[in-house]
Amino acid sequence: MRSTVPRGSPTPPLARRWAEAVAIRPFVPRLTPVIPVNDDEPDPSAVAAAAGILRRGGLVAFATETVYGLGADATNPEAVARIFLAKGRPSFNPLIVHADCVEMARDSVLEWPASADVLAREFWPGPLTLVLPRAANIPDVVTAGRETVGVRIPRSRVARALIQATGRPIAAPSANRSTGISPTEAWHVSNDLDGKIDLILDSGKTGVGIESTVLDLTTNPPRVLRPGSITVEQIREALQLEVLGQGAISPDSQAHSSPGQMDIHYAPRTPTFRIEREAFESVPREGRWVLIVLGETPSIDVPPGRRPDQQFHLQTPTEAESSLYSHLQAIDLSGVDFLVIVPPPDEPRWLAIRDRLWRASRPWPAGL
Ligand code: TXA
Ligand code: MG
Repeated sequence: MRSTVPRGSPTPPLARRWAEAVAIRPFVPRLTPVIPVNDDEPDPSAVAAAAGILRRGGLVAFATETVYGLGADATNPEAVARIFLAKGRPSFNPLIVHADCVEMARDSVLEWPASADVLAREFWPGPLTLVLPRAANIPDVVTAGRETVGVRIPRSRVARALIQATGRPIAAPSANRSTGISPTEAWHVSNDLDGKIDLILDSGKTGVGIESTVLDLTTNPPRVLRPGSITVEQIREALQLEVLGQGAISPDSQAHSSPGQMDIHYAPRTPTFRIEREAFESVPREGRWVLIVLGETPSIDVPPGRRPDQQFHLQTPTEAESSLYSHLQAIDLSGVDFLVIVPPPDEPRWLAIRDRLWRASRPWPAGL
């Protein structure tokens, strides 16, 4: 891809380069079948085929409202072990269990406190994972040996139809190689996991675009372990209780966070740097690069001669959450030399995006 664009000539927009890449994809043998399904009305035969694979211990990728998940029967330890193998995921990182109804979620946990009831009513189906004491039907491999389990009911119809047809809770991490970018489209899954999983249900782009908020209800007060589009303020409001947020991203805060909240995570392959707006002048003149500016402030007017190949301005948290990962995936495919991110302000509603950006990037300056 990079060789088709001579240095110095205007580079085609990322979207076009992506289309070129896709155009040659039919010639690449695909090992994992991809079945298109409509999320408004999932085709029962496609769902039944996928459920059959899950019941036999196989792996199926499907869209939730947040990101694509890689599902296995949560009650089958051998099937769940295959998830770790396919992703290259460390065994200490527990999986979220997905249910199609509150009864199934309750069957996966030992205790169902009043706070869980309130939050389920308010936010399910939706992007909130509740960490609770685990029930005996959830094996060690799902919880990484912990006595707690994360459960949620996803909002996408495909996901709920699939869980219902399988008749069992489904363990599903994001359907990407471990530490990579979470997939928001089926081709992202295919790029990472083709040949390692049994089926991909393609129901198009996910809506929310970043992973669920993970809330630990086993502590008092409850604590957010991973920020998401449902904010700590919304959870406090629903519970009318003190709830601890994840706080600033610092080595200290890591001590309290989820085992999955490793320092380097959600990371593109393209070297990615964050730089404060004021320090922008120090970005080098050399190389092909992309600029992403986040926040409601005006975008950056880069002087001619130093302009990036592509520039994006994601103005609101919702816009950033729904499109950040798609941009990162396209940037990785485009083969540019580096990506520069100007982060959004340190405000509560930007917390989830700042969390992901901090893990995906290194501060500038740093040797290229
Ligand atoms: O939106 C989502 O949450 C997506 C979709 C597919 O549901 N799933 C997802 O899964 O992001 P995964 O495995 O990529 O991230 C799960 C996070 C990890 O940070 C993990 O450590 C944490 O949830 N987690 C799961 N069970 C936990 C537990 N029992 N205690 C603490 N953290 C837990
Ligand atoms: Mg993940």
